[in-house]
This record gives sequence, C-alpha cells and structure tokens, in this order.
Amino acid sequence: MAIERIESVTYGVDDLAECTRFFSDFGLTLAEEADDRVVFTTQVGQTVVLRPVDAPDLPPSVETGPGIREVIWGVDSHGAFDALVAELRTDRAVTVVDGVAHTHDETGFGLGFAITDPVHLNYDPRRYNSSGRVERWNQPHTAIRDIRPIRICHVALNIPKEGRWDAVHFYTDRLNFRATDIVKPMGVFMQVEGDDDQHNFLLCHRPDRAGTNHTSYEVSGFDDVIEGGNHMIEKGWREARRLGRHTVGSNVFRFIHNPAGGRVEYAADMDRVDETYGPNVHEETPPHHIWVLETNRDAEQGTLPGGDGVAEPGSASQPGSTEFSEPAEPRGDFQ
Ligand SMILES: [Fe+2]
Repeated sequence: MAIERIESVTYGVDDLAECTRFFSDFGLTLAEEADDRVVFTTQVGQTVVLRPVDAPDLPPSVETGPGIREVIWGVDSHGAFDALVAELRTDRAVTVVDGVAHTHDETGFGLGFAITDPVHLNYDPRRYNSSGRVERWNQPHTAIRDIRPIRICHVALNIPKEGRWDAVHFYTDRLNFRATDIVKPMGVFMQVEGDDDQHNFLLCHRPDRAGTNHTSYEVSGFDDVIEGGNHMIEKGWREARRLGRHTVGSNVFRFIHNPAGGRVEYAADMDRVDETYGPNVHEETPPHHIWVLETNRDAEQGTLPGGDGVAEPGSASQPGSTEFSEPAEPRGDFQ
C-alpha cells in the first residue's frame, strides 16, 4: 500500500462566494462552480472543494464554523485502495462512492481515499544564480505576477491533547504514515509512504482542540512565495504572519487567513527526506523559524520578531504590535 499524496481537501464554508474569490485570488484553477459546490484544482490535479457548512452530505464538523471537513488521500493502486478499505472496515464504517472511500479518523475529521492520477508537470522551475552555481544565463529575472500553486504539499489539523497519541498512531499504524519530527509539546509531523517532503501532514495538539490549522501549497521558488503573498494583500486578504523560513521542514513561507477556515500557506524549498531521516524527537518546541522578514520599522516600533525565533508579531511579548496580530485564542499555528 502506498499513499502518495493529498488528493483533495473539502471545506465547509459560511460564504461560498467569498471563499471562491479567496481561492481564485490565491491562484488555484476554478474547475466547477455550482450553488452548493465549488471545486478548484492545483497544477497536478488535486482538488480543493468548497461546500456550504450545513451541506447534509458532508462529514460532521469537529469545530464551530467553517473549516476542513474531509481530507482525501491519493493511493497508488486498486490493490492498495482495496487493502486500505478492508483494513479500516475492521473497526469503522467505510463507504465507497464513485471510487472514493469515505470514513473518519480518531479525532472525527472526514478521511478518504481515491486512486491517484497525478498530472505530471514539465515546468521550468525558478532559477537562481550564485558564484559557482549559475542556473540563469542571459535571462533577466522578471515578475511572475500570476502565481499558480503547483500542489497541496501538506495539511495541518489541530487535535485535543487527550488521546493525541491514538490520533497519531491511527495514521502511522493504520495508514503507514512515517513520523519525521515529533515535537512533544506541539505535535507530530508525518510523511506519507509515497512522497519525500519532510512532512505532508501535521497533527498539532498545542491548541488542545480539534479544528483546522492550515493547508500548504508548494510554489516553485522564493519569488512566488513573496509575490503570491503580495498579491493576496493587494486583493484585500489578511496576512497571518510575516515572510520567513521554518525551522522544521525549512520551507520558506507566507500565511494568509482563510475565510474557509484556518490559514493557507505559500511554501517553497521544503526539506526532502527519506527513511534515513528521523524520527527526530524534540522534548521542547524548536524555534518557529530560522528567520523572518525584519524592517527598521520593527526596531522603531518595538515589534522586532525576536532573536530566539519564537516571539512573533502580535504575541504577548510584543504589546506594541498590531501588525499580523492573531485572534486571542490558543496559538496552534506552528507551521
Ligand atoms: Fe505549513
């Protein structure tokens, strides 16, 4: 059995039109639009599905308001699909509709499987020059403008602290996810069998409640991350934290608040790891980022993100900050 990738993420939303505008601005391709269902695709053929929050055929919600209702994972063969369904039916109901299996995980999030059929891209990745490594000859760097995320690279879900190991072991023991980094005070990063990203999935128990944390979308380079975030700001969407590079996974990031629930992330240059990596067990939570964007205004206004990489704009340690401030709720937005 091999789960290769995230195949689809379904959100239950309050305002279908607003969320459609959001994901259009974010750069996904609108594939279907109906009164009660909007579907976007990534460049490799994954889907983001928007449904009304009260749609009767959606899996039950684990949280109040909009958020992720189901994550469908893509498997590599009919044999793998059948084996997964049979194994999960040993302790839970699994329905199969139009080739997609639907069930739930230990937290209550909708969980499904489908045979994956990735679109193989033959795109020209962003090229960067440095002394001794020239990737771009006689070719100026130009603005990209139209950022199109390549793929959904990971999903992060919040879970309660109680029962968190059962929640994690369901994925590692039953679905063959591999824990890559275990951050004891925060959560567990996992990789699916058929991919090499440092993580495709994060179960985050720090907020101690079930809910949507974020979905992350790979773009081809740093410029895409920056331009994509700028574009979203220009379109009136609100940035959730400033540009930076994570410690765990090393990806360069920008986060935008998502009206469909949680946040979305533009990500580039994540670590690729194989079975020789980890699991790394962290007794304490590593610094959130290696760096974040700083300006002189930060020093002048007392909003410097902090040398230890933990304090963030809008956190209690920086009472003067209003930029990028997060709602007054437990912070679960590690990644
Ligand atoms: Fe992330």
